[in-house]
Amino acid sequence: MLQSLEPKVLEIITDETKSVDTRLGDICELLRNSVDHYDWVGFYFRNGDKEELKLGPYAGTPTDHTIIPFGKGICGQVAVSNQNFVVPDVAAQDNYIACSITVKAEIVVPLFVNGKNVGQIDIDSNTPDPFTEEDERFLEFINRHVAEIL
Ligand code: SME
Repeated sequence: MLQSLEPKVLEIITDETKSVDTRLGDICELLRNSVDHYDWVGFYFRNGDKEELKLGPYAGTPTDHTIIPFGKGICGQVAVSNQNFVVPDVAAQDNYIACSITVKAEIVVPLFVNGKNVGQIDIDSNTPDPFTEEDERFLEFINRHVAEIL
């Protein structure tokens, strides 16, 4: 039950003794360690004024894709669509950037500050078609609260 993780997420977000990046990294670790179908969890943010995303805190295998141009891959598409993107089968996507051959599915949920799309949370899964609306609502909850500390 993803909702049962919400109090712990809030505890991490509101811990002002830690830097924002440390808190975001702790959320990634919590999610990756607590949810079976979350194998890589990371935040991407807009890189200054550039039309590209830059990798922020994450948990999982290091990725080469630390910069992603707007429009490229699932992440880059969400940067311009402002919509959640749930991918049940990454092999069926043309505009997809592979980070690891073990990944079967992906979910990306945009993060808004004052209505502006400033970044996103990105989750890769090694399980085929694992994401439901429960994941979307949970990740929207996280992003709403992360927005308050950015
Ligand atoms: N698969 C993503 C790239 C980022 S990695 O999943 C960490 C995409 O297509 O945008």
